[in-house]
Amino acid sequence: MTAVVSLPARVAHPFSPQGRLDPYPAYDWLRTNAPVHHDTMSRLWLVTGHADCSAMLRDPAFSAAAGQRERAREDDLPVSMLSSDAPDHTRLRAPGQLLLGPAALDSIAADLVADTDALVDRLAGLTGAATGTPVDALEQIGGPLSTAVFARLFGLGEDQLATFTQLARAVSVNLDPMAPPPVARIGRAAMGELNRFLLAHLEQAPPCPMTRLAADPRLTRDEMLGVLGLCVVGGWQPLAEAIGNALYWLLPRPAAWRALAGADERLALTAMDELLRLEAPIPFTARVTVRDVELPGGRIPAGSRVLAVVAAANRDPAVFDRPGELVLDRTPNPHLAFGGGPHFCLAARLVRQAGAVLLTRLAARFPAASLVDPEPRWGATLIPRRLTALPLALAAQDGGAA
Ligand code: HEM
Repeated sequence: MTAVVSLPARVAHPFSPQGRLDPYPAYDWLRTNAPVHHDTMSRLWLVTGHADCSAMLRDPAFSAAAGQRERAREDDLPVSMLSSDAPDHTRLRAPGQLLLGPAALDSIAADLVADTDALVDRLAGLTGAATGTPVDALEQIGGPLSTAVFARLFGLGEDQLATFTQLARAVSVNLDPMAPPPVARIGRAAMGELNRFLLAHLEQAPPCPMTRLAADPRLTRDEMLGVLGLCVVGGWQPLAEAIGNALYWLLPRPAAWRALAGADERLALTAMDELLRLEAPIPFTARVTVRDVELPGGRIPAGSRVLAVVAAANRDPAVFDRPGELVLDRTPNPHLAFGGGPHFCLAARLVRQAGAVLLTRLAARFPAASLVDPEPRWGATLIPRRLTALPLALAAQDGGAA
């Protein structure tokens, strides 16, 4: 039987205004004292230990369909693989390989590296070695990287990037399960616009991973749109924010920044994993129990809404030595920032590669980069975990900016 316990008054609830800015004290307390916890405020079960989250994400007794489909219906979001259980899930996920599988990624890898180099060149031009004009990590680095990734996946032309970015930003509010109703309504309307944009684009898109997905007879038109929409809602902003979150950790640590500048591909990917572990852009994901379930940390009754709090699991001292520290070459690193089990992020490899290439290029080009504000503010949105702004002084060392 799971004991009924409450967070002590000194620890801010993770969904309260203060707790949203720094949820880690609450996560630590819960993981230590009540790893499988029924939260009376949200009426959700919060699972915070690594072993429990990992088991939960792999156990079919925790249904993604029951957990997400309710919300998808309310929000008019397309039914997608993320809101399905096997065998539907298996059927919907398989064609997703055409968009995000190894062959698809290989087909865009070289262009994406060129896009990243162009982005870093642009930043060098913007910054100017002498002036050191601040750039914003989200607006000018993370956002453009994420847009470049989708442009390659979807075969978007230069003239479509501004509209796509605007739509991607607008649909991103659908990520936050606790967005206020007026905000959720705007996100719902934006989803319709994104679908219309993608359908019109498909009529004349050049061959690319998206056109190969669209030609797959295993998916209906709505299912195909569901996959694309899920990728934009679940991917554009988390990837953009992951870059800001990573720079927030890296720049105050000159030794780590230097190590990244000279990193080979293996260390760069390892570092990207560590940065995602420390500041998971998607801090939790929801399921509903279809029967009573016994996890290592406690029992959850049938019909419960449960969050796997992966951001808490990622700092579990039972699994990670010095869990609150950045250890650039941490290996192994079984973090859960990409989830786990059958719904493991389909774009994990793409995200790791795109982030690793960008961060190493930035570190090499701007060795003296620093945060303009040493204490930037975290945003109040629950998903993604993000900074409200992250102004950077990128000034390269003498002569290094051009
Ligand atoms: C830093 C960026 C990202 C993070 C942290 C992230 C994280 C996650 C997580 C935690 C899940 C599992 C959710 C669950 O189990 O309920 C997931 C699923 C998924 N992600 Fe990502 N994601 C990122 C970027 C992307 C991008 C860029 C794309 C597409 C281009 C993408 C596509 C997907 C898809 C299609 C799924 C559903 C897989 C399934 O249900 O089988 N993600 N992601």
